[in-house]
Amino acid sequence: MTKKLILDVDTGTDDAVAIMLAALHDDLELVGCTTVNGNTSVENCTENTLKVLDYIGMPKIPVHQGLTRPIARQDFPEPRKEGDQGSRIHGPKLPLPDTSLKAKSNNAVEYLIETFRNATDEIALVPVGPLSNIAAALALDPDFVKNVPEVVIMGGSHGWGNRTAAAEFNIWADPEAAAMVFGAGFRKVTMVPLDATYQAALCTAHADALEAHGTPAGKAAATFLKHRIASYDSIQPLPTKGYAPIHDALAVAALIAPEVIDTKFLHVDVETVGTLTVGRTVIDTQVRTEAFRRKPANCHVAFGANRDLFFSFLNSAFSPKA
Ligand code: BDR
Ligand code: CA
Repeated sequence: MTKKLILDVDTGTDDAVAIMLAALHDDLELVGCTTVNGNTSVENCTENTLKVLDYIGMPKIPVHQGLTRPIARQDFPEPRKEGDQGSRIHGPKLPLPDTSLKAKSNNAVEYLIETFRNATDEIALVPVGPLSNIAAALALDPDFVKNVPEVVIMGGSHGWGNRTAAAEFNIWADPEAAAMVFGAGFRKVTMVPLDATYQAALCTAHADALEAHGTPAGKAAATFLKHRIASYDSIQPLPTKGYAPIHDALAVAALIAPEVIDTKFLHVDVETVGTLTVGRTVIDTQVRTEAFRRKPANCHVAFGANRDLFFSFLNSAFSPKA
């Protein structure tokens, strides 16, 4: 049975691969995309999302544009600067042909609320950017939390940050929104943090194999992966050079087969005030909060990932359809 999902994206290079996996894998049905300010402005994220869907021949998947800034702050904890590490990994515009497709609305939050309110089948919500749209939906609709059966978040980290020493970008970019989402009481929340996505990092040989399919998705994924490898090698090298994570696509892969990640059910909170630690996901690996503050587990946190299985999903999704 196919699994339905809505992707909330700040399309960048890894979001683009996540969109293609969600749109093209036989076991998934991408119901729609919502966009959010993140890797680049929300307008660029929307255009990038539409370009991806058009390029891979899935123009009917609706795209709704969302929030232009975090829910409580005028800007990220520090304003975005062109030329910073994130913009070098993604760039403002993806290198794909222009599209005439347009967003269906500028009200992603309303789209999320209405779609989950009226859903007759289960739809998973997969946010892979800052959590601004999701927090806004929670604030506007008291039933949103119970209408969404499952949330799979790419974000956070246990070991180290990528935007600051303490924080991963998606959580750092709207920490108040992230704190709301983790504290909301969704039925099932899975978090795919950097700790897992780095274990599923891919290399040039993987890109070559995707490119060899000759499909638009295979060629685009190869372009994005090669760009990411070059960027990571120059600014955030992995222990083995020549590899780069495709964070957001791993969150989508976890819907195809949960065993692609190894999870533990733990309590997760988000730091919103620390001057050095704002945006840090505080993961209670030793179950201290439950014992002393009575905060129960709220999240299935991925600490590991299976690179080969992850790649096999990309490989099958981006191969020519029979
Ligand atoms: C996350 O931040 C963004 O730059 C990526 O698209 C991904 O969602 C990784 O920290
Ligand atoms: Ca993203």
